[in-house]
Amino acid sequence: MQTITLHDKQFKPFISESELDDAVTKMANQVAHDLGDEVPVFIGILNGSFMLVSDFVKKYPKPCEVTFIKLASYEGVKSTEDIQRLIGLTQDLTGRTVVILEDIIDTGNTLEEVHRIFKSENVKQLLIATLFYKPEAYKKDFKLHYVGLEIPNKFIVGYGLDYDGLGRDLPAVYQLKTTQHMTNLVLFGPPGAGKGTQANFLKEKYDLVHISTGDVFRYNIKNQTALGTLAKSYMDKGHLVPDQVTIDMLEAEVERNAGAKGFIFDGFPRNETQAIALDKIMASKDSEVSAMVALEVEDEVLVQRLLERGKTSGRKDDSDESIIRNRIKVYYNETAILKDYYAAQNKYFGVDGIGGIEDITKRLNAVIDKL
Ligand code: IMP
Ligand code: MG
Repeated sequence: MQTITLHDKQFKPFISESELDDAVTKMANQVAHDLGDEVPVFIGILNGSFMLVSDFVKKYPKPCEVTFIKLASYEGVKSTEDIQRLIGLTQDLTGRTVVILEDIIDTGNTLEEVHRIFKSENVKQLLIATLFYKPEAYKKDFKLHYVGLEIPNKFIVGYGLDYDGLGRDLPAVYQLKTTQHMTNLVLFGPPGAGKGTQANFLKEKYDLVHISTGDVFRYNIKNQTALGTLAKSYMDKGHLVPDQVTIDMLEAEVERNAGAKGFIFDGFPRNETQAIALDKIMASKDSEVSAMVALEVEDEVLVQRLLERGKTSGRKDDSDESIIRNRIKVYYNETAILKDYYAAQNKYFGVDGIGGIEDITKRLNAVIDKL
């Protein structure tokens, strides 16, 4: 299941069809068990409850009656005042066991209105069953006899519930994404591909936070943060820093930049474990990795570029051709698995890294603008 857009808002998968099915089945069986031989009248509150009521009564194992009522808005005495009244109750319910079937109980205002109109009906008992219940939003003290699923106080759609008319038809439930849309890039390129240069342009153009793993490590070690000290203890022994330490450091960096429009991850993830961890980190921000963007440059061009750079920079690892070739080889060995990981999600984008800096930037922009 993927993120969906209704009008101007995005919603992420929240409760699957099978989880809904389980919750409805459980409620139907509980009610049936409690009511014994009583033939109840189930009353759905339109519009939202139509899908629940349909599924519920199909699962209800004993005879029952079904009807619906609807909330209608009236303008009150003061024109600013919006009064909600329930309409459509035409049946005589004297002496009957009535079970209200609600899709969702939020503030409880609707429920208050239900209780108000049933005060004058001489029912035997009035039971309330709701598929969804938001305890944090509920402001009344009417008893809820049956609750399918307790959910956090966030707006949901699907399975009868709408956002401004849309979404009622969805068979699963989706939750509103509360953060703005982010562009999160995993940037790759072999040594000499011009990754640093392009990262700077992208950072400016899209207002992204550039997270370079090397910088994050140096910062944490220099400032002797708990994670930096821990990482250093491995490095001093000549050991690899465990994935979890790297992941925790990167996560802290993402947290430090809460509210960012997106990130450029540079040097992370390095393996599948880290890639999976990054997905989790982004999911916790109601977001996701948008793309892995890899600059593609032939080995021979890279070797020439780096040798050229070595002449002026004096960097030792840029002066020896066999060292250069080995660094390139290591890069491809490391990234192959990540390329597969992101390609499987249609998130891998190779960009031709040969040509003028501006041309390459334009190619990157073309990819990112379509995300
Ligand atoms: P109440 O606040 O309990 O009276 O709920 C009022 C109505 O608001 C419900 O019957 C729904 O129609 C609607 N509503 C409350 N929460 C949600 C939601 O998360 N998604 C869609 N509709 C909702
Ligand atoms: Mg409703």
